[in-house]
Amino acid sequence: MALLELKNITKRYNHECCALDDVSFSVDKGEFVSVIGPSGSGKSTLLRCINRIVEPTTGEICVDGVISSSLNKKKLRKLRTKIGMIFQHYNLVERLTVIENVLHGRLGYKSTLAGVFGRYSQEEKRQAFQILEMLGLNDQVNKRCDQLSGGQKQRVGIARALVQNPKLILCDEPIASLDPNASKIIMDHLRNISTEMGITVIVNLHQVEVALKYSDRIIGVNNGKVVFDGPPSELTTRQIHDIYDSEPESVELMVYQGERHAG
Ligand SMILES: Nc1ncnc2c1ncn2[C@@H]1O[C@H](COP(=O)(O)OP(=O)(O)OP(=O)(O)O)[C@@H](O)[C@H]1O
Ligand SMILES: [Mg+2]
Repeated sequence: MALLELKNITKRYNHECCALDDVSFSVDKGEFVSVIGPSGSGKSTLLRCINRIVEPTTGEICVDGVISSSLNKKKLRKLRTKIGMIFQHYNLVERLTVIENVLHGRLGYKSTLAGVFGRYSQEEKRQAFQILEMLGLNDQVNKRCDQLSGGQKQRVGIARALVQNPKLILCDEPIASLDPNASKIIMDHLRNISTEMGITVIVNLHQVEVALKYSDRIIGVNNGKVVFDGPPSELTTRQIHDIYDSEPESVELMVYQGERHAG
C-alpha cells in the first residue's frame, strides 16, 4: 500500500485560477521524491495540501491509510505527528536553544499544559540527543539558535522533524538559503533519512541538478499540473524545457553541473 496517495487534487485560492489542477500520484514508503517547477507553479501549495495547512478545493488525500479530509481536529492533529515539515527559513524559535527547538517536535503528542511547561520525558530527551548526534550537532545542543549558521539551523529543523517519529517528511526548498557545502550536507542527511530510516521524503527544489542527483523519482509541475512523473533517468532535456517553459539553452545551463543520468 502507498504511504501517500493524492487523488484529483485541485486548489483554488479566492476562486481564482487553479494553483493545483487535478493532481494525482502516490508515493511509497521510503521513497525520495523531488518536486520541481517554476516559481508559482504550485509546489508549496502541494506540500501544504498534504498536511492540510491548506485545504484542497476538491480531491482526496490519503496518508498512511487515513483519508485526511474526513478527520476532525483531534484526529488531524494525530495525523500531523506523522508528517514532519522542513522550511527554507527553518522556522526555529531563535532565542531558544537547539535542544529546546528539537523537543518542540514532540508537542503534537502532548496536552497543551504539558507542552507549555516543557515537560518532556527522559526517553524523549534521550532520543533528541541521539538524533542531534547523528546530524553532527552534539556540540551545539545548548547553544541558542540565533548563534548557528544556516546549515546548522536547517539540521536543527531536520532533528525537530525526526523526533516526531514521522512516516513522511515534507521539505519546502530546504537548501534555497544555503551555500553549496551546507546544501550538500542537508541533502545527504535527507537522502539517508529515506534510505536508512525508511521515511518517505518529498522535497521541493529549484535546482534541477540536485533533484537529478538525489531522487528516486522526480515530479515536474507547471501551472498547477503534473507534467512529468518518473525516475531521474527518464527526465530528458526536452521535458525540463517543458516543465520550466524555458529555452533549451537555459536548460543546458541548469543541468550543467549536475550528474546527468540521461540526455
Ligand atoms: N495564500 C495564497 N492566496 C492566494 N494565492 C496564493 C496563495 N498561495 C499561493 N498562491 C498562488 O498559487 C499559485 C501557486 O503558488 P505556490 O506558492 O504554491 O508556488 P511555488 O511553486 O511554491 O512557487 P515558488 O517556487 O515561488 O515558491 C501562485 O499563482 C500563487 O500566487
Ligand atoms: Mg514555494
